[in-house]
Amino acid sequence: MKTAVISSTGLWTPPNSISNEELVASYNAWAENWNLEREADIAAGLIEPKPMSSVEFIEKASGIKARYVMNKTGVLDPDIMAPRIPERPNDQISVMAEMAVKAAREALERAGRRPEDVDAVICAASNMQRAYPAMAIEVQKELGCSGFAFDMNVACSSATFGIQAAADFVRSGSARSVLMVNPEICSGHLNFTDRDSHFIFGDVATAVLVEEESLAPAGHWKILGTKLKTEFSNNIRNNFGFLNRTAPEGIDAPDKLFVQEGRKVFKEVVPMVATMITEHLGELGLQGTDLRRMWLHQANANMNRLISSKVLGREANEDESPTVLDTYANTSSAGSIIAFHKHSEDIRPGERGLICSFGAGYSAGTVFVEKAA
Ligand code: COA
Repeated sequence: MKTAVISSTGLWTPPNSISNEELVASYNAWAENWNLEREADIAAGLIEPKPMSSVEFIEKASGIKARYVMNKTGVLDPDIMAPRIPERPNDQISVMAEMAVKAAREALERAGRRPEDVDAVICAASNMQRAYPAMAIEVQKELGCSGFAFDMNVACSSATFGIQAAADFVRSGSARSVLMVNPEICSGHLNFTDRDSHFIFGDVATAVLVEEESLAPAGHWKILGTKLKTEFSNNIRNNFGFLNRTAPEGIDAPDKLFVQEGRKVFKEVVPMVATMITEHLGELGLQGTDLRRMWLHQANANMNRLISSKVLGREANEDESPTVLDTYANTSSAGSIIAFHKHSEDIRPGERGLICSFGAGYSAGTVFVEKAA
């Protein structure tokens, strides 16, 4: 069996950021208008008024201070409350593929790899812009990669599932150089009129180049082990799908956007992930103290604090478990890869770390890595 390693990563960040203050102002304006239009029904006790959102709550409950988005004006307009991203003609590359290509180019450049030397492209993300042709095939064509390409979706765990899929291709010999990209336009499935979740997500694209060890550049990351897990839960759902055109409320119904029972997710996913990490560490003959750093999924700062406490037996500091939530918010599958990309330059050869994702499904993935010389 061949040995798979991570050769490099790439990141592309949209130019526009929305602060909590801006987001809350637009939500509150929308809610006030909604309440005003239904003043009589609310006064008669027929319907509940929409509650107001608060900057303080968002930061305290999640650690999120801002998020990048593909379209700022639509999201912040109280009459729209959604990104406005125009459809493109068929002779243009899709928005998702375009974002992925930008992140991919950085990963290829950092590895000193030519696109034609890549022989598989995986696009792993929580939502795909269309059913087919695959975003991954667009990325393959745009970059000029050879071999094969396909899309896969495991919600927030898409990147770690993608890394294992890529590593398995390399281990089995069916590919030597695999580009795994995560374009996430989370604003497209976020309900900006839902006070309890309007602040959660942001947009971004990441890329990871997984290769056979003999090809990899100096300073690559050995993959010590990968592990994936899924366990059915209704607590995070998105019912949007290709059969919805027949639904009475159509694709605008709230259940066709992101919906969650945030408290339950928090309570159930933290122990599931902490146990998974500890068990996987044990299988590799390692302990929490052997980890120099954990690049955890970026959904909630308090969740990450709890998970790292359970793994280390004490709270991790920002150096041991960095967060990018303050500027990026939750970027679904891309979150742990952004953390890894931005906070790994200082890791020395022989030091070990963990890339870990978790989210809807439920799904979770652990990728233990060691910096090579
Ligand atoms: N502004 C002000 N108050 C708000 C608010 C907002 N935007 N959203 C919720 N609240 C209120 C609630 O109504 C509730 O009020 P009540 O106590 O009077 O009922 C209170 O704040 C606490 O709400 P709760 O939903 O229990 O907050 P929380 O501490 O659980 O934090 C999340 C909410 C979403 C940040 C948190 O549950 C979380 O991160 N969960 C995991 C999410 C996750 O990882 N999802 C996966 C996505 S892939």
